[in-house]
Parts: sequence; structure tokens; C-alpha cells
Amino acid sequence: MAQDSLGQNQLHTNEQNIGFYHNPVMLAECLEALNIKTDGTYSDCTLGGAGHSYAIALRLDENGTLHAFDRDEDAIAFAKRRLAGVKPKVIIHPVRFGELKNEIEAGTLDGILYDLGISSHQVDESARGFTFVGNNPLDLRMDRREGVSAQEWLRTVSADDLAAALRKNADMDRAFKLSTRIVEMVAAVSAEGRSVLPSDMKAVVESVFPDKKREVNGLLARVFQAIRMEVNGELKEIEDSLRAAVDCLKVGGRLVVMSYHSVEDRCVKETAAEFERDCICPEHMPVCTCGGNHRRLKKVNRKPILPTDEEIAKNSRARSAKLRVYERV
Ligand SMILES: C[S@@+](CC[C@H](N)C(=O)[O-])C[C@H]1O[C@@H](n2cnc3c(N)ncnc32)[C@H](O)[C@@H]1O
Repeated sequence: MAQDSLGQNQLHTNEQNIGFYHNPVMLAECLEALNIKTDGTYSDCTLGGAGHSYAIALRLDENGTLHAFDRDEDAIAFAKRRLAGVKPKVIIHPVRFGELKNEIEAGTLDGILYDLGISSHQVDESARGFTFVGNNPLDLRMDRREGVSAQEWLRTVSADDLAAALRKNADMDRAFKLSTRIVEMVAAVSAEGRSVLPSDMKAVVESVFPDKKREVNGLLARVFQAIRMEVNGELKEIEDSLRAAVDCLKVGGRLVVMSYHSVEDRCVKETAAEFERDCICPEHMPVCTCGGNHRRLKKVNRKPILPTDEEIAKNSRARSAKLRVYERV
């Protein structure tokens, strides 16, 4: 796919002025998948540092509209500066993208983009407790104004529920042993009257996987991912929002979703599959009674689009990205 040098150059010029937040992944591929009309109406459901939003805005004229969603107030503040002065109308929705159906009228969008997961800024700001670098108390919320932090959640969760989250959100092995030790550790740390730290989690992971010393950071990253996804309700957000997205799109509009790990990708694929069938009768029904004709999405690419080796060499965060593209029918 051709690199769009206009978008990329203008993006870098702007970045130099306002500082670094996040390097947009598969930018040219996302723009091509959105099939942008200059006077169209688009939604970027994961604004972040506005890397994708800014490039979309450059392709819209004064008759175009961009709706942008993020639940993180740092992202909203940064993106507002970055999008200042662009031609199209930009409407920022500082809410969860699970709220899409309450914010956008049905049948009005030409394209919707999701760049799932967390931004480099969220990872790099170790004070926000997203990372095990820096050893700050575990928080892991994208929106610190709502819900409970990771350590508050860990204080109340049972070993069974934590094991289920480790399996569902990160396909973790030895999930029950791990969850039991985490629950014990959290109780001990709370009795000491201090916060749960990444170093406490690391000690637990090392004790459960003594045979995988070299993989400890990768395993710890998956434990963090599982807890983060639970604290932010990430899979439910994706399911709710994708279902609403189908209603919000015009016929011919594009649904473009980029995921970064197999659990997210499976959720995207399975939720979209609900809308790719003409017949929605339960599988056990011997004959169709729904009348058929229910199909509302078709795949634009049979297989997900992957980043080029060149992009992965420049931005290691791109290495696990998978882009799925659908059209509203
Ligand atoms: C990978 S980053 C997006 C980066 C952006 N595409 C860019 O180029 O700068 C994902 C962003 O989505 C936001 N996010 C994740 N889940 C969300 C949700 N359910 N509702 C709203 N925002 C969400 C995160 O706060 C984060 O800023």
C-alpha cells in the first residue's frame, strides 16, 4: 500500500510543535481502508494523540465532519491542541466509545476507525501505573475519573474470578495458581498498609513460573493486560461499540478496526461475524425462520492487513497489529 507522503510530512511537522504522544500504526492502510470522501462524516473512536484523526482531518474539507472519542483526559487535551485549526468540523466526545449509539445518529457515518488498546503516552507515563517500569502503584484505568483502580479491584476479587479474567483476557497458563498467589500477595500487602506495586506482581509471576525466567517480563505484561482489560471493561466496550457502529454507518460506509493481541482480535472478528450472516436463526434450528436478509457487514479484505516489515523496524509497537476492514451493506 502506498505511503501518503502529504499526510506523513504534515503530521511530523505538527508533532515537532506540540511534542510526542503516540506514533500512529498502519496510518496509510487505515486511511485507504476508510475510503475518505472530502465532505464525509467520520468517527475516530480512539483519538489518543490524534495521529489518525489529524491525517483524516487533512483529507476532509470544510464540509466534512470528524467525531473523535477518548475516555482519557490527557488524550483529549493533547488532541485538541493538535487538531486546532483543521478545516473540517471536529466534534470531540470525551466519553467511552461504548457510548457511540448515544452520541451519533444512526446511518450518518461514512467511516469509523478503532485503534484499540492503550497509547504510548499511557505506557510511558509510569506515574499512571500502566507499566511495570517505574514501580508505581497499579492503577491501569484509562479514565481515572471513573471505576476502581487495579489495586482496589484486586483487593476485592476472588481467586476464581481473577483466574477467569487471566484466561479470558490473556490466555494465561497456570491461571488459578497465579490468581491464588496474587490474592494472597494483595492481602499481605494490604495488611502492611501499603500499595500493590509492579515489583510485588513480578515476584508472584516469578514464583509461579520458575521455569520461565527469561519470559518473566512478557508474562508480567500479559498479567497487566488481563487486569487492565477487566478494570476498563475493554471487551464489553468493543462488543457494545461495534454493534452500535453497524447502526451508525451509512450503507457503503467502512468499519476499520485495528487490534494488538489475539483476545482483542477474536472479539472484533466474532462481533463482526454476527452481522455478516443473512440468516440469524440459532444453529440448532433445522430450517430458517428469521426470513434471512439480515446481513449488514461484508469483509473488504478476506484476511486482516498486517504492518510492513519496514514499519515494524521503525515502530516495534506495530508488530502485533491486525487491521480488519468491513463495509456496511
Ligand atoms: C492506541 S491509542 C490510539 C492512538 C491514536 N490512534 C493515535 O494515532 O494517536 C488508543 C486510545 O483509545 C483510548 N481508548 C481505549 N479504549 C477506549 C474506550 N472504550 N473508549 C474511549 N477511548 C478508549 C485510549 O485512552 C487511548 O488513548
